[in-house]
Amino acid sequence: MAKYKIAWLPGDGVGAEVMEAARIVLDKIKLDAEYIHGDIGWEFWRKEGDAFPERTINLLKNCDAAMFGAITSKPVKAAEAELIPELKGKGLTYRSPIVRMRQLFDLYICLRPCKAYPGNPLNYKEGIDIVVFRENTEDLYAGVEFNPVPQELADTLRKISKPFGAFANLKTDEYAVSCKVNTKKGSERIIRAAFEYAKKFGRKKVTVIHKANVVRATDGLFLDMAKQIASEYPNIQMDDANIDAMTMWLIKNPHSYEVLVAPNLYGDIVSDLAAQLVGGLGFGCSGNIGEKLAVFEPSHGSAPKYAGQYKVNPIATILAAKMMLDWLGETEKGAAVEKATAAVIAEGKVRTYDMGGKSTTLEMGQAIAAKL
Ligand code: IPM
Ligand code: MG
Repeated sequence: MAKYKIAWLPGDGVGAEVMEAARIVLDKIKLDAEYIHGDIGWEFWRKEGDAFPERTINLLKNCDAAMFGAITSKPVKAAEAELIPELKGKGLTYRSPIVRMRQLFDLYICLRPCKAYPGNPLNYKEGIDIVVFRENTEDLYAGVEFNPVPQELADTLRKISKPFGAFANLKTDEYAVSCKVNTKKGSERIIRAAFEYAKKFGRKKVTVIHKANVVRATDGLFLDMAKQIASEYPNIQMDDANIDAMTMWLIKNPHSYEVLVAPNLYGDIVSDLAAQLVGGLGFGCSGNIGEKLAVFEPSHGSAPKYAGQYKVNPIATILAAKMMLDWLGETEKGAAVEKATAAVIAEGKVRTYDMGGKSTTLEMGQAIAAKL
């Protein structure tokens, strides 16, 4: 029996292609693993009304970790329109499988390292090395949303928000409500994870991202928790910034940041920005990490425009595989994969279209494997 069971979830569009490239690399380093395919994605939404079927959930329950490609998502009405006729009008609603997976398995850390590898022509500046810790289960992703607003909620809101309620006299279908829910526990554990990371890897500063001057209740709670936890780490500096200012400063002074920690939505936004500083979609990798399970993926989507062309850059997925190796405790193998990737980038001979080259997705995978 293999040492590890890895769920293999290619998903939609280019997801399958970048996963194929990552597999070339994993096979080359001979990770002692059994890779088990899991159904996930648009096809299963259309045919079964569920993009993340029960059988795949069960598979994940029995695996040590998972690699996930990418998934197509469409707004509610467009999704309903693509269901097979038998499933139409049954009140099925499309929900993003990755968001469900994060919540179902309590994968509360979204870890997104953004490193400028020397020689990457897409680096915004050399020497950038930022790690984003994004809370991954709550905040505006809590899924507590109303459109139209139920009468009971409308009545309550009218009562409690009188002085401010621009919506106070509106009909229940004339506005919508999405709740931002942030718990002490959820905030504490992501902030602690960021500080623990800083401690372990000798980083000197953790920057806490929020908008506590306006979003007082939830972001205020997040910032308060951060201050409390920071006091337990006297050797690590904490600073904080509003999300809007943060997007400017990251571009102005990217070298001033080491570890960022943020509630879910700000983390989503700022991690795209940070990924762009080090090469964009082809380089943004992501680990969704819980206590028992972790799921690793490129941060990019399924890019339907490029599907079937084996054109997109698989480096993000290969770096996600590196993160998986680290999480499994295979840190030597993880370091080897990163070194090989960095060597191919530095050499500049094999480059996908985003890097200004003509190499295919699989050629990039093969080039990295060849360095191992
Ligand atoms: C990400 C993505 C997802 C998110 C989408 C695909 C639901 O943007 O992983 O950052 O919003 O979390
Ligand atoms: Mg995102």
